[in-house]
Amino acid sequence: MYDGSKIIVGLLVFVGMMTFPFWNNIGKAAYKTPELKLPPKSVATECVEGKEFMREKHMQLLNDWRDEAVRNGERLYVSQANHKQYQISLQNSCMKCHDNKEEFCDKCHNSASVSPYCWDCHIAPPKKGN
Ligand code: HEC
Ligand code: HEC
Ligand code: HEC
Repeated sequence: MYDGSKIIVGLLVFVGMMTFPFWNNIGKAAYKTPELKLPPKSVATECVEGKEFMREKHMQLLNDWRDEAVRNGERLYVSQANHKQYQISLQNSCMKCHDNKEEFCDKCHNSASVSPYCWDCHIAPPKKGN
């Protein structure tokens, strides 16, 4: 005669151990924000939207910008955060302020293992050499 409940307990322990790395990660950020080179205070102190918003949603914002510019011919963006107007442009807005791509965009993207393909076509600012 064998004890079925022992088998079930054994199975549960086994499944728990095998999946530990997954549920142990729940709630933790997938990556840590590295040290970033922000624009100098003399250039700008604010982004086109709030910092948290930008951190989480800049991909979406860039998509919207592209659609606005390419489909609707709209070249001006009014910030929800500070109500200022910005030119809708990857090169002439984002990369004007964030002109150190290596120490800003790339640094974050490398640590998150994403590599946006935008630079196949869009021109990145010249390397800063640091
Ligand atoms: C007028 C200059 C300016 C423009 C234009 C601009 N940024 Fe920013 N951006 C900043 C500044 C300054 C900060 C830091 C804000 C702060 O510390 O509150 C920042 C912050 C950010 C952050 C958050 C960084 C962090 O510490 O987590 C991201 C992401 C970002 N910008 C991406 C973009 C993208 C993408 C665009 C174009 C859609 C853009 N920015 C346009 C000046 C600018
Ligand atoms: C605070 C960290 C951080 C900074 C700074 C940052 N990014 Fe990102 N970016 C990310 C992360 C994380 C993703 C992937 C998010 C996802 O897939 O949901 C991403 C995704 C993107 C994507 C979408 C790529 C894709 O394949 O879906 C674009 C476009 C992009 N970033 C552009 C930029 C540009 C341009 C800058 C610099 C002006 C920048 N990012 C700065 C963290 C950052
Ligand atoms: C196959 C080439 C190509 C790729 C790849 C590409 N773009 Fe573009 N993009 C264009 C062209 C062409 C325009 C239209 C330029 C214009 O009308 O000023 C444009 C326009 C835009 C615009 C609005 C106008 C401007 O000056 O910025 C944004 C924002 C933009 N793209 C963002 C992106 C982002 C973000 C990525 C990467 C996720 C990307 N693009 C990848 C070709 C490309």
